[in-house]
Amino acid sequence: MTLLQELECRLNAALTSALGEPTTGAVTAAADLRFGDYQSNAAMVLAKQRKTNPRALAQEIIDHLDLIGLATADIAGPGFINFRVLPAAYAQRMATLIQDERLGVPATGAGKTVVVDFSAPNVAKPMHVGHIRSTIIGDSLARIARFLGYKVIADNHIGDWGTQFGMIIYGWNHFLDESALAVNPIAELVRIYRKVNAATKDDPTVLEHCKAELVKLQAGDATNLAIWQKCIEVSKNGLQKIYDRLDVKFDHWLGESYYNDRLGGLVEDFLTQGIARESNGAVCIFSDGTKPLEEDPFKVHKEDGWTDNPAIIRKADGGFLYATTDLATIQYRIEEWKADHVWYVVGVPQQLHFRQLFDAATRWGKTGDFKHIAFGSILGDDRKLMKTRSGDNVGLIEVLEESVERAAKAIAEKNPDLQGEEAAKIAEIVGIGAVKFAELSQGRLTDYVFSWDRMLALQGDTAPYLQYSHVRIRSIFRKLDAPFDASTVTVHLHEDAEIHLARLLVRFGEVLPTILEDFRPNLLANYVLELARAFHSFFEACPVLKADEPTRLSRLALCELTSRTLQQGLQLFGIQVPERM
Ligand code: ARG
Repeated sequence: MTLLQELECRLNAALTSALGEPTTGAVTAAADLRFGDYQSNAAMVLAKQRKTNPRALAQEIIDHLDLIGLATADIAGPGFINFRVLPAAYAQRMATLIQDERLGVPATGAGKTVVVDFSAPNVAKPMHVGHIRSTIIGDSLARIARFLGYKVIADNHIGDWGTQFGMIIYGWNHFLDESALAVNPIAELVRIYRKVNAATKDDPTVLEHCKAELVKLQAGDATNLAIWQKCIEVSKNGLQKIYDRLDVKFDHWLGESYYNDRLGGLVEDFLTQGIARESNGAVCIFSDGTKPLEEDPFKVHKEDGWTDNPAIIRKADGGFLYATTDLATIQYRIEEWKADHVWYVVGVPQQLHFRQLFDAATRWGKTGDFKHIAFGSILGDDRKLMKTRSGDNVGLIEVLEESVERAAKAIAEKNPDLQGEEAAKIAEIVGIGAVKFAELSQGRLTDYVFSWDRMLALQGDTAPYLQYSHVRIRSIFRKLDAPFDASTVTVHLHEDAEIHLARLLVRFGEVLPTILEDFRPNLLANYVLELARAFHSFFEACPVLKADEPTRLSRLALCELTSRTLQQGLQLFGIQVPERM
């Protein structure tokens, strides 16, 4: 049980005995530490229901509260109950955390299966900064869910089937540079795609040729299928290199094409069940009229009032669409993988698509907890969408490369002793960590301005700052003659800085589950930053190696727990910690 849960249990026992019937109230971390560590507004909520005086009720509850050995409680303001945890209780918690591999994090996801759908770039189109967000946020949510005990299935639903293949096959036949393809397949596919795109502008017949190639591909033409397959293969290899560098792993890569065979039957099923109907030759899903207009994804408000906003699942020419594939995908995930939750980490512009998808899937009898985890854009210094000097979207690889380069420079300046392979390895960890943390410390829905200086600063809300904090803690242990074993140590807490560090260490297990309530990794970012700051204050105020026993061992145990918690927190972001930097 977390400390917060324990306080809640004690509060609920007091509520029940004070009011003479089973009653519950919530405890939260205190907003202001001057008033205590935790607080509850239960007395105010219950007094309102019962039309009694909240302060009097709070006193009544406190009179029934058994907090022996745990905390003290008092009333503040209009009837808040504030809890101040006893240092001895924190010390006891430290002992438990030291023995606990999970650092106090409860397995809130045990027994549940979640599919995390993230990254999902489109073949033959470059992975741009928008994909950075999906990849980094999705990977972190998958890691956090896994740590909370969920069975996580990370699925890369790549766009490997679409109209772009008409152009790519045409380009493959006319413009392909085999040696360039071998060196950088993603770039070469993008190059030929752009070249064909430009050619269609000069010569309209090119477009006709592309369309013909697409029709051949869709009809199963062997030559075109072979080219398509080769494109997928080289793209996957190129992508895998990026994921390896980012330390991102997928359990599956079931791209759009995986579902091709199911689409025809699916549309028939929608027609028979009356969820979809024909309209101008196309098959469309319309509103079922069960929801208020404002909440109905198949209705849209235009100047002349509410009108239909259908989702097409089969075009008049027989072609299927993104929505059709996604319906087949959701069915597969629920039926084959027994998913309880499906999380889609995809940008804001696809909001309507997912509202329609979830509504249609539910009407089709595919139920589950479906979430579109949307995110905003990354902006350049000019507050416009980030572009390269030539005006293209910035590629993910370029961003990573530049970050690592800048990190290498900063490290060389700060610590010229580091050389060669070791320096390069640290630069990689720091540069990539910086990009990830810059992303994850933002509210995911806000558009944020990308700034190298801000994300690489050693003093700031950055990965390098956290990595450096970890290095600093580890350097304490390097000065010891013998390996340190925290499990035999009794922790004593006297100084404010020690107590504050312990307070935060206990919070790890309380903060982590709340991240998934609204998919906000930035709560974890705030937490690790606060923990690192608390460590630095502690380290300034409290000598560790020079302290007398038993304080020395007790403080070493606090250092050890801090370093483990920091490392675990960063690991949930996919950020590694170097030994030195
Ligand atoms: N390939 C899509 C894109 O880049 C994202 C796919 C997201 N996943 C899904 N199941 N629709 O826009």
